[in-house]
Amino acid sequence: MRKPLIAGNWKMYKTPKESLAFLNEFLPLMSDHTAHDITIFPTMSSLGYVIEAVKGTNVSAGAQTMHWLNEGPYTGQTSPTMLASINCTHVLLGHSERRIYANETDDMVNWKLKAALAHDLVPIVCVGESQEKRQAGLTEAVLNWQIACALNGVRSEYAAPIVIAYEPIWAIGTGSVATPDQVSEAHGIIRREVAARLGQHRADAIRILYGGSVKPENIAKLMVEPEIDGALVGGASLDAKSFAQLIHNSVRNTGGKK
Ligand code: 13P
Repeated sequence: MRKPLIAGNWKMYKTPKESLAFLNEFLPLMSDHTAHDITIFPTMSSLGYVIEAVKGTNVSAGAQTMHWLNEGPYTGQTSPTMLASINCTHVLLGHSERRIYANETDDMVNWKLKAALAHDLVPIVCVGESQEKRQAGLTEAVLNWQIACALNGVRSEYAAPIVIAYEPIWAIGTGSVATPDQVSEAHGIIRREVAARLGQHRADAIRILYGGSVKPENIAKLMVEPEIDGALVGGASLDAKSFAQLIHNSVRNTGGKK
């Protein structure tokens, strides 16, 4: 049984004050919720405050990116050691916005993934094809390549914490959510590649989230699919009431599908 994870990626939104105001409203709405793991990814300037505020609750917090080295002359970067030192538990890796705007390569994602595992951070590795690649029939090739690179040299016995997020670039922030069938198919491709790299046992246990225009109104249809183990939510995670509603609407109803 894979426990679903619903994660909110706040991207470059919310000051520390706004982050804490969100939590004041959100945490009570989630206090007795046990059906999902819930993680919030605030900006680096809010992260320490958010970690303190969620302490002892059923919500955890993570960083949106990190460097792979422990320290060094890398202006603007934050290291895995630094994240671990403030009790950060999760980290997003290889988000397409990092790949596109910060030139993050598949090699860097691989180094970061290994660093996250070495520091007991739960890595959420983001993969996904562009519209152009999908139209060219290259979705499977892109996903296989990104997964193979990310997992290169990762040993199966250390891979248990890994979470993967399938985020097709064309669905991010566009309002065009992928269909449940498209997501299931992509998750199947990802799970097969994980099995080829880490073994079937590991692939069966790994959680694969979907991200891209997930809203309170469309999450239920996605969560019907047994291949979808949760969501990585951008815009719809910014409002406390609507994110709480989205999480409540995510309670799995497989409608008989296994
Ligand atoms: P939206 O939910 O705003 O489409 O963003 C998805 C995303 O990029 C989450 O990481």
